[in-house]
Amino acid sequence: MKIDILLGLQWGDEGKGKIVDAISPDYDIIARFQGGPNAGHSLEFNNVKHVLHLIPSGIFHPDKLNIIGNGVVIDPAVFRKEITELGPGVDELTKRLIISTRANLILPSHRILDAAYESQKGLTKIGSTLKGIGPAYTDKTSRNGLRVGEILRKDFRELYDIHLKRHMTILQNYDLKFDLNEYEKGWFEGIEMLKKFRIVNTEYLVNELSGSGKRILAEGAQGTMLDVDFGSYPFVTSSNTISAGACTGLGISPKLIGDIFGIFKAYCTRVGSGPFPTELGDETGASLRNIGREFGSTTGRPRRCGWLDLPALKYSIMINGVTKLFMTKADVLSGFNTIKICTSYKIDGKECLEIPFNNDSVIEPVYSELKGWEEDISGMKEFAELPDSLKKFIEFIEKQTGVPVTMVSVGPDREETIIRA
Ligand code: GDP
Ligand code: IMO
Ligand code: MG
Repeated sequence: MKIDILLGLQWGDEGKGKIVDAISPDYDIIARFQGGPNAGHSLEFNNVKHVLHLIPSGIFHPDKLNIIGNGVVIDPAVFRKEITELGPGVDELTKRLIISTRANLILPSHRILDAAYESQKGLTKIGSTLKGIGPAYTDKTSRNGLRVGEILRKDFRELYDIHLKRHMTILQNYDLKFDLNEYEKGWFEGIEMLKKFRIVNTEYLVNELSGSGKRILAEGAQGTMLDVDFGSYPFVTSSNTISAGACTGLGISPKLIGDIFGIFKAYCTRVGSGPFPTELGDETGASLRNIGREFGSTTGRPRRCGWLDLPALKYSIMINGVTKLFMTKADVLSGFNTIKICTSYKIDGKECLEIPFNNDSVIEPVYSELKGWEEDISGMKEFAELPDSLKKFIEFIEKQTGVPVTMVSVGPDREETIIRA
């Protein structure tokens, strides 16, 4: 059976967690393929909100298997906290979750290095979540990483000390005060927690399960505009957040990929630094933030808000090969008289449809204005019920992108999801 991919098309926080949870009943396995605890995937059911950082968003469905793939970077301290607070209990969760031997570990010193590198950047800081993501992926690609499979070795502590020593040598060059002891304690408790789980070469497992007809959903983290190659570099994360990342992050061939679900908000948000052409620094932006409760799921930082950016969306669709679009947070736009959509950019007075490779240009968004709608759509269950203006908004996006919008999310709860017949 082909493997479907679900990923974010903007700057993260598109609602991936909510949608993965909502469509999990259609799958047997949910597999995370990249990122780490920089992610915050929220999902809601029975009036309770859960935020997941490392664990795939299918975890609340007792009959589903969840996999953390080789492309993910794992901080054992975060993992332990998440497992402990999740609800079903460790014994139950060990049945639902399997971890790749090849996933790289985030060491306590990676977090310190993250802070050191950010502090040196001054005004050009990325606005990292400071979870150690960049340094952990750097060690992976420079072939200095420590991987989950190693934790079963008898000499693991010695291995750890070798890595720590190397990091300490680098940190001597930075004027940074830190105390590793407290975090290290939780980290090693996390290592013990990890050992309770099945740690296997998940690439074999995923291929076998797919071969035996099981339905697998690959869950992305962050968003395409934060991809290390195609995002607004250097204001990006350190992994490939795009559909190709599912192949490398799970060990599957492109031939095995089925649908590629691209999630986007009906507007845009970004947390952290970097270009954001449609950003609204005015009252409209503040309204989107307040109505949409746009505060980071991982760091609590207020998210920057702006209108939907079609050049960026089309770029993401192209890079990922999106087959179906899922739109979230349509409900947040209820009550706006007019809704703007950016259809192209102007750079130095000239129209430009491409995303510039660097951040030097001043981008002026060119907008189309659409009529808004008044209705509260959060209780609506069928596509036919949606206000005409919202239907026109969706049609406009479909026409511009050439990809159908097959799902509309009208609230944070898993039930508030309209699948278009
Ligand atoms: P993710 O990182 O892509 O999983 O997204 P986050 O969970 O970080 O951020 C999305 C936020 O929007 C969360 O607070 C969700 O509960 C919420 N959310 C998701 N879909 C909808 C929706 O359709 N409407 C509203 N109002 N909130 C939503
Ligand atoms: P989810 O999966 C939104 C942003 C950070 C920062 C940049 C680099 O919840 O959509 P990093 O911690 O990777 O060094 O940060 O990327 N960022 C996210 N923004 N959602 C996320 O994940 C993000 N993960 C990282 O704010 O600008
Ligand atoms: Mg998030």
